[in-house]
Amino acid sequence: MNSSILITGGAGYIGSHTTLALLQAGHEVVVLDNLSNSSRESLTRVAQLAGRAPQFVEGDICDAKLLQSVFARQPIQAVLHFAGLKAVGESALKPLAYYRNNVSGTLQLCQAMGDAGIYHLVFSSSATVYGEPSLVPIGENCPVGIPTNPYGRSKLMAEELLQDLARSDNRWRIAVLRYFNPVGAHPSGLIGEDPRGIPNNLLPYISQVAVGKLKELAVFGDDYSTPDGTGVRDYIHVVDLANGHLRALEALERRPGLGVWNLGAGRGYSVFEMIRAFEKASGLSVPYIIAPRRAGDVAECWADAAKAEKELGWNVKHQLSDMMNDAWRWQSLNPDGYRSANDLDNIV
Ligand code: NAD
Ligand code: WQD
Repeated sequence: MNSSILITGGAGYIGSHTTLALLQAGHEVVVLDNLSNSSRESLTRVAQLAGRAPQFVEGDICDAKLLQSVFARQPIQAVLHFAGLKAVGESALKPLAYYRNNVSGTLQLCQAMGDAGIYHLVFSSSATVYGEPSLVPIGENCPVGIPTNPYGRSKLMAEELLQDLARSDNRWRIAVLRYFNPVGAHPSGLIGEDPRGIPNNLLPYISQVAVGKLKELAVFGDDYSTPDGTGVRDYIHVVDLANGHLRALEALERRPGLGVWNLGAGRGYSVFEMIRAFEKASGLSVPYIIAPRRAGDVAECWADAAKAEKELGWNVKHQLSDMMNDAWRWQSLNPDGYRSANDLDNIV
C-alpha cells in the first residue's frame, strides 16, 4: 500500500535521491528541510524527474511546534530521517551545533512522532560508529567503536537514543541504516552532491580537481597497510542507497522492534583506484600529491552487506564505473552545483 512519508533533510544529497525513488514508487512525500546545507533547486529537479512534486516544508527538526503542525496536517505513516550535519572536521569546531541538530533534533522528532502516533522510523546512521574496525568486512554485530569526533559521537548517541526508545515501547519500528561511503549521482545528471565550499569527501574533491576548480588532490597517506598504501573504503552508489531506504520501509511493515543494517557494496577501493576510475570515466587527468595521513582516518573499512541482502532483500546494482560516470555527468553538467540554475529558474 502506498503511503505518505515524511523525509527530513529531503533536499540534501541522499534525501533528494530517496525522495525521487519514493515518488517514483508511488508514495506521497513531504520533505522537511531547513536548507542549511541544500537548496530548493534539488527538489525542483526531483519534481521534473518524477513528474510530480513532493510537498515541501522549510523548517527545522528542532522546532517542536512545526513538527506538531506537519503531523497534524496530514496522515503520515513513516519518517525517513536524514536531517543533520555531517562534516567531520567542522564537528570538532562546532560540537554543540552537531549535538543540537543530530541528537536533540532526533529526540524532538521522535517526541513529535510518538505524540502523533507515528512509530515507523528509518534513521541515517554511518559506518563511522564502528570507529577503528578490528577486522574487515564489518558486520553489524561488530562492536561499535569510540568515534574520534563529535559527528561520530552524535550518530552513536542518536542510535542509542533510538535503541532505548524501541526497548521502552513495542509500538516503535525503527531501521538504523549504517551507510558506508555514498558517491555518484542520479544517471540523469540533474541531481547530485552539491557540497558548499571545499569538499571534505574524496569523490567531490576529485571531481572539482578534474574541472579545474581545485588545483590538485592531496592523497592522505600512501603508507597504510593496504595493497597500494592508500586508504580503502566501501563506495556505494547513491541510487542504490536510496533504494535501500525503500526496502527498509517495507521491512518495517513485517518486523517489530529496532534493526540495524549496513548499506555498503561489500567491497573496498583504494584512493588510487578511485583516481584511476574517475580519470577513465571523465577522460581527464587528476593531478595529486601525497600528503600526510589525515587525523582520525582508518586504513580500510568495508561492509559485510549480507544482512541487508537477507533481511531487506536489498543489494547494490551499480558498479564503480557507474559511480564514476554518474558523478562525472553531474559535475560536468552542473559545474557550480545547483547554484548554476538558481538564477535561471528554468527547470520546471
Ligand atoms: P546533506 O547535508 O546533503 O543533507 C542533509 C539535509 O538535512 C540538508 O538538506 C540540510 O539542509 C538538512 N538539515 C540539516 N540540519 C537540519 C535541521 N536541523 N532541520 C532540518 N533540516 C536540516 O547530507 P547527506 O549526505 O544527504 O546525508 C544525509 C544523512 O546521512 C545525514 O544524517 C548524514 O549524517 C548521513 N550520512 C551521510 C553520509 C555521507 O557521506 N554523505 C554517510 C553516512 C551517513
Ligand atoms: C575517503 C578516502 C581519505 C579526501 C567520511 C566520514 C564518514 C562518512 C563518509 C558521514 C580516505 C581519502 C579523502 C581527500 C584523500 N560520512 N581522501 N584526500 O573519511 O571514509 O568517511 O564520509 O557519515 O563518517 O568520515 O570518506 O571521502 O573523506 O575519504 O586522500 O581530499 O579518501 O583519507 O581514505 P571517509 P572520505
